[in-house]
Amino acid sequence: MSSLRIYNDNDFSQPLVFTEDGAEISRQLNEVGIRFERWSTRELEEGATPDSILAAYQAEVEKLKAENGFTTADVVSLTPTHPQKDDFRKKFLDEHRHSEDEVRFFVRGQGLFYLHLDDKVYVVLCRKNDLISVPNGTRHWFDMGPAPEFTCVRLFTNPEGWVAQFTGDEIASKAPRFEQLIEAA
Ligand SMILES: [Fe+2]
Repeated sequence: MSSLRIYNDNDFSQPLVFTEDGAEISRQLNEVGIRFERWSTRELEEGATPDSILAAYQAEVEKLKAENGFTTADVVSLTPTHPQKDDFRKKFLDEHRHSEDEVRFFVRGQGLFYLHLDDKVYVVLCRKNDLISVPNGTRHWFDMGPAPEFTCVRLFTNPEGWVAQFTGDEIASKAPRFEQLIEAA
């Protein structure tokens, strides 16, 4: 199940808020300018190709493009047996920003987004059917866990803009990681 935890950024011992209610997750995130919504399930064949995945969600993807000026969409997948999974995980584990919105729709699997907004950290577990859009310039990090498993649609206004600018803040190492928050799948 998807979830949201909200912490004070100087105390990760207990979340101030914890919810697994999709509507409540949306409400809390929308309130602080983060788009989160759940799309309806599509029947996809096992091993569906990126093109067939994009075709299945074409209506939603085109709507997002029209509303936000995204020009391209692609599909990214990772499985626990990928030889570079640890490197991929490490790449986005420290706090960073992009000059591009980070838009992810989870076709399958899961991932943890940490959004550092003022003096709070919003930890969002995204799972199948969840769309999250992290606005450009937002301090955040992402933890796919030790056994990453996901297929995501990504949208870009400019794929080259999606480069991580690290903040140098060590906050990510103080917050609970995927292993501490999410039971083994
Ligand atoms: Fe990012």
